[in-house]
Amino acid sequence: MDKIIILIGFMGSGKSYLGKKAADFFQTEFLDLDLVIEKQQSLSISQIFEKFGEEYFRKLENEMLRKIKIGSIIATGGGIVEQKINRVFFQTQDKYVIWLNPSWETILSRIKNTERPLVSKLTENELLDLWQSRKPFYRECADCIIKNPNLKNLIKAIQSR
Ligand code: S3P
Repeated sequence: MDKIIILIGFMGSGKSYLGKKAADFFQTEFLDLDLVIEKQQSLSISQIFEKFGEEYFRKLENEMLRKIKIGSIIATGGGIVEQKINRVFFQTQDKYVIWLNPSWETILSRIKNTERPLVSKLTENELLDLWQSRKPFYRECADCIIKNPNLKNLIKAIQSR
């Protein structure tokens, strides 16, 4: 791959699942930033939030994003776009950023019974507000937007980058 493919989007948009499948298809490396953080800290994302708080997690996320050396397709956490420095980082030339942007109904049905710290903490309306408030950030970073993310669409987007 000439450019690193970065997958962004809200929780439940399919970044990890489809990213892995696409990497298998292209026979390239796949990296999930949340898993890298969990491994490096020997703690789950929920434990990191619980023990040290969200701000600390954001700092780790930010540091880890810059440390990544391998990986042709990278799945990021849904909140990575909140920091301006990350949005600027995504816009550098060696990266192709794809926003997986399914409907709110799809997102909600996928995340509502999961262990994610923000899902446990926020009500459905608050999660909807968070999604709305992040959309301009995803849009700002995206070289390509996939409205109905599935493997076929993602492969097509990567091929025509
Ligand atoms: C977060 C999304 C999560 C994870 C953390 C915070 C967010 O990743 O990074 O729980 O702020 O939206 P996924 O988008 O892979 O669920």
